Amino acid sequence: MNALDDMVSLARSAFEQAHTPTELENAKAQFLGKSGRITELMKGLATLSVDEKKSQGAAINVAKQAIESALQERRAALAEAELQTQLKAEALDVTLPGRERPAGGLHPVSLTLERIEAIFGSMGFDVADGPEIESDWFNFTALNTPADHPARSMHDTFYVEGGSPDAPNLLRTHTSPMQIRHAVQHVKRHRAALDAGQGMPEIRVIAPGRTYRVDSDATHSPMFHQCEGLWIGENVSFKDLKHVFTDFCRTFFESDDLVLRFRPSFFPFTEPSAEIDIQFQSGPLAGRWLEVAGSGQVHPNVVRNMGLDPERFIGFAFGMGPDRLTMLRYGVNDLRLFFDGDVRFLSQFR
Ligand code: DAH
Repeated sequence: MNALDDMVSLARSAFEQAHTPTELENAKAQFLGKSGRITELMKGLATLSVDEKKSQGAAINVAKQAIESALQERRAALAEAELQTQLKAEALDVTLPGRERPAGGLHPVSLTLERIEAIFGSMGFDVADGPEIESDWFNFTALNTPADHPARSMHDTFYVEGGSPDAPNLLRTHTSPMQIRHAVQHVKRHRAALDAGQGMPEIRVIAPGRTYRVDSDATHSPMFHQCEGLWIGENVSFKDLKHVFTDFCRTFFESDDLVLRFRPSFFPFTEPSAEIDIQFQSGPLAGRWLEVAGSGQVHPNVVRNMGLDPERFIGFAFGMGPDRLTMLRYGVNDLRLFFDGDVRFLSQFR
């Protein structure tokens, strides 16, 4: 029976030396397989007497069971080892610092636009949005801008494909075309009432957005922002413009002692026209007049192009530069910083 004990320990050490399931199955085959040692021993029983068969057979079975349980043990050990390796590979060190995903923020000019919309919104103004590729009609003609006006020159305006030679398409040079677009829609909605001699709700709107001119230096960029304002009714005057714009500036800059000056000027689409200058009474910009907008009473020809009778409807318009307002509010001295996309600059406004 010593031979059988030896075989069991031989099997055990063969199993121990197997380090993968495949190696283990190969080792198993040597002992328990079809031509394995145990199987061979079983076959040898055939030649023995009945008594010998009984005792030998029982002894072989004991050895076989010992080998089988050694095999089971090793299988379990290998499976456990594999599980441990896998767990180790997938281990998460929850004590490591997290990967930072910095929070983004709105662009300073977007902050200004939101601020403008909120302030004018609180004064009952709608916000309108319109195309950046405009037709000659909306950008110039409807705004009473004559054919020989310098703003129409190739040096000032980006003309684009489409349109006809006498009515080319262009990147809008200002947000003023939105005066016409918005007013025409408004008037259309109230056409029946107007034709019946009734009134219409006042037009009160701002139109912020991108505008384009052939221009580039520290204070000019080929793409810049404007915000148009329009207020048309039967009883709207320059006094209302002064009131609204003063309120706006004081709220925007959070400064009650800010002073405004309306300086006579000229725009084809307003008569009379004025540049609006502001002056801070304290702070780094105190005492200087700073131009922030163009404005005026809407020209009768423009009122007519809106589909309204200029004898009955009157109002004012203004156009301001949100980029410049942003520079003044935050003390930025180069407009190009807004469009460089440098996060070191932009992250200061988060
Ligand atoms: N569109 C003018 C410009 O770009 C600004 C402007 C002036 C707008 C007077 C107005 C206005 O609405 O009334 O220079």
